[in-house]
Amino acid sequence: MEILMSNWSEVVQSMPEKYIFPPNKRPGNHVFPVFKNIPLIDLEETNGRDRTKLIQQIFSASQDFGIFQVINHGIPTSLMDDTMSVSKEFFAMPAEYKTSFYSTDIARKCRIYSSTMNYDNEEVHYWRDNFTHHCHPLEDQIYLWPDNPTRYREVVGEYSVEVRRLMLRILEVISEGLGLKPGYFDGELSKTQLLSVNHHIRCPNPSLTLGMPEHSDPNLISLLQQSSVPGLQIFHHGQWMDVDPIPHALILIPGLQLKVISNGKFSSPIHRVMTHSEEARTTIGTFLIPSQEICIEPAKEYSGEDPLYRSFTYKEFFNTFTQSNCDADTALQYFKK
Ligand code: OGA
Ligand code: NI
Repeated sequence: MEILMSNWSEVVQSMPEKYIFPPNKRPGNHVFPVFKNIPLIDLEETNGRDRTKLIQQIFSASQDFGIFQVINHGIPTSLMDDTMSVSKEFFAMPAEYKTSFYSTDIARKCRIYSSTMNYDNEEVHYWRDNFTHHCHPLEDQIYLWPDNPTRYREVVGEYSVEVRRLMLRILEVISEGLGLKPGYFDGELSKTQLLSVNHHIRCPNPSLTLGMPEHSDPNLISLLQQSSVPGLQIFHHGQWMDVDPIPHALILIPGLQLKVISNGKFSSPIHRVMTHSEEARTTIGTFLIPSQEICIEPAKEYSGEDPLYRSFTYKEFFNTFTQSNCDADTALQYFKK
């Protein structure tokens, strides 16, 4: 069978065996509650004069819900729409073209794969294709990106720069709130920028499979441009809840490195992705990630507190994370003090 689901030539009417989860791992048929009160932070309203309010909003959101959404974030809606269009157009390109980007080698800086990077060895596949590439610095990466659709590089290039600026702006507010020095997260801690586009074709039976496993993001912080088709779920107070997409709002998900650096003041929420029985779903994630050799540890500013974690390099963390089957608790266990 063709590995990339977006290359399947026929519309799937029934679930292929390899995508059916064992009963204890299936999401099942029940209707999940909608997470109605995910904080929606208006960045314009809090620009400048209301910085304290903004800090407070981000902190209480992160503490109560794990994630938050921003509006009036400065990324033009037309640029968001164009980026979504070229991403979908890429997944609709001919099979051979997409296959030329196929790789499960993490060293490949622009790659498409299906399910997880462990496709060849996993027992059950997730209902997902993923296209990932590096974005920063742009001039070192852009030539590796698809030149088809013809607008891809231009549109995604502009989007990557804008999104990076926004994420660093939000990190600046976070560092201020955490009592860290200005520019704390600039530089090595946020050096690597990945664009990660998830594409889930229509699924004949979403109760039997998942579009992405439950996980916490291993990076510093993630920004997610959602699809109008729902699918993201957050594990909140012991239950899975649906995130209702708000058009052109952007979701921020603190990653495990932020949890460690903030000595546990931020958490890194567990989330997963459901598939949809009527429509395909495409989302665009941007991850800011520390460079491989940089030392990660609870910030020195918290030397008065008991540090919860020892220091490690991001490379060491990421290897441990993949060896722990991408389970955050198992991975963090190795770095606990
Ligand atoms: C991720 C992720 C959610 C989504 O890429 O880490 O959680 O809705 N994505 O695509
Ligand atoms: Ni995630």
